[in-house]
Amino acid sequence: MRIILLGSPGAGKGTQAKFLCEHYCIPQISTGDMLRAAVQANSPLGQQVQAIMASGALVPDEVIIKLVKQRILEQDCQQGFLLDGFPRTLPQAQALMDAGISLDAVIEIRVADEIIIQRLSGRRVHLTSGRVYHQDFHPSRIPGRDDETGEPLIQRIDDQADTVRHRLDVYHQQTTPLLKFYADLAAEQVAASPQFFSIDGNQAVEQVRATLLQLLGD
Ligand code: AP5
Repeated sequence: MRIILLGSPGAGKGTQAKFLCEHYCIPQISTGDMLRAAVQANSPLGQQVQAIMASGALVPDEVIIKLVKQRILEQDCQQGFLLDGFPRTLPQAQALMDAGISLDAVIEIRVADEIIIQRLSGRRVHLTSGRVYHQDFHPSRIPGRDDETGEPLIQRIDDQADTVRHRLDVYHQQTTPLLKFYADLAAEQVAASPQFFSIDGNQAVEQVRATLLQLLGD
């Protein structure tokens, strides 16, 4: 299974990606997690992208395309993968096609901007694993601690309200054209076209999960 999850910041891509990857035994390729790991390691890539990410802007296409292409070549992606946060621009989507990487499904998770602000202000993450919690909607068992390791949870620097608003603007300008791109591709119905779905992400986590599994044929 080769899946792309699209959706605005905070739409629930990471939350649902964890379920789907476990269900289909495929790796989650989260470009955001990969970049945050590079920042934490203070690698040359991390130094290059740190300020861009903190501002809520997008990392240059050539940097991110190279990163994803390398990751997809790894052994664990042979049976499939889930792309979470990539592609985000038309050149990124085109690069996937040009590389001959076929897809089964592209799914947009739709959430209203007002709800996004509320979700991201309460989000807490476990940086090492990428596990995501919400203070009200999806709390960890012990407040402020990861369920599996007991390590501290953090608030992402780009989850401050002003930065979230900028990330939403960037999403509407640069990523929403991908919805038409994939809808048109699906409508062509040639052998390599992925299916395209758009689902209501304003529902509870479990309901969104059930809808996804139903659409993907489970
Ligand atoms: P990235 O890490 O990809 O951030 P994002 O796309 O903005 O998405 P988020 O991780 O913020 O949200 P999500 O949809 O995964 O929601 P989540 O499940 O956590 O990217 C960060 C930065 O890296 C970018 O700004 C950019 O600089 C750079 N970057 C990354 N990829 C790039 C690319 N391809 N090109 C260029 N630059 C790139 O859920 C959010 C909260 O809501 C959580 O607290 C969760 O518990 C809660 N929640 C989830 N679902 C529900 C629900 N149904 N009901 C109630 N609460 C819910």
